[in-house]
Amino acid sequence: MAVHKLIILRHGESEWNHENRFCGWIDIPLSEKGRDEAKFAGHLIQKYNLKPTITYTSKLTRSIQTGDIILEELGRLWCDVVKTWRLNERHYGAFQGRDKNEVYRELGAEKYQYIRRNYNGTPPPMETQYKDDCIDERYEVDDVDIADLPRGESLKLVMERVIPYLRKEIVEGSLIGDNKTVLVVTHGSIVRSVIKYFKGVSDADISKINVPTGVPMVFELDDDCNMVKDYYYLDPELAKKGIEKVSNEGTKK
Ligand code: 3PG
Repeated sequence: MAVHKLIILRHGESEWNHENRFCGWIDIPLSEKGRDEAKFAGHLIQKYNLKPTITYTSKLTRSIQTGDIILEELGRLWCDVVKTWRLNERHYGAFQGRDKNEVYRELGAEKYQYIRRNYNGTPPPMETQYKDDCIDERYEVDDVDIADLPRGESLKLVMERVIPYLRKEIVEGSLIGDNKTVLVVTHGSIVRSVIKYFKGVSDADISKINVPTGVPMVFELDDDCNMVKDYYYLDPELAKKGIEKVSNEGTKK
């Protein structure tokens, strides 16, 4: 039986992860720590002798930078890289740019957590239009009309744009169809979507899943796209610390 390995991770810490601000589609680069995390992610991938032959990133700098640093660390900068809006972070609507503690105080714990983690939790939408709402020329060449791009998404909406792409292009196309080792460098909500999809996590239980910055995880799939075992982080201890940090974000009074 062939086993196909899909390596996926959330980008390293961004400057706004560091400042505790909602980021979404705002194009914020990696922090110094985020660059170190990306380098370490490359080291982990090498340690496990994984050799990506194609990489997918979002169209956001923090994901692209993380992918570049990893490929450099692996000596595989020659690897094909596909960049797509479908792997962008969840669009955080009117919360983008706002301090998480401030939004927490404003909404209260329950509503704050509902919008951040419930499958149907949706932030208030972005009012503005093209060019003022982080939607710029990078999306003009993509497979969608600018007017149809999101302005505020729940995880459910994120999955509607990510999963068909994951299935057709990444898994059936590259991973299984071309027998490639695939590296996906993306964002927290996308990784949550992928976990929910492959593991069949319920709508209720997905709210408990958080994803650390910069720690690669591996999905091993058979030819029929079923998981042959549970997904695993390449550094479980580091992942545990990162998960705890993310789940507490913004809950300071
Ligand atoms: C963001 O877009 O601000 C984060 O990367 C994800 O934020 P969250 O963990 O609060 O959903």
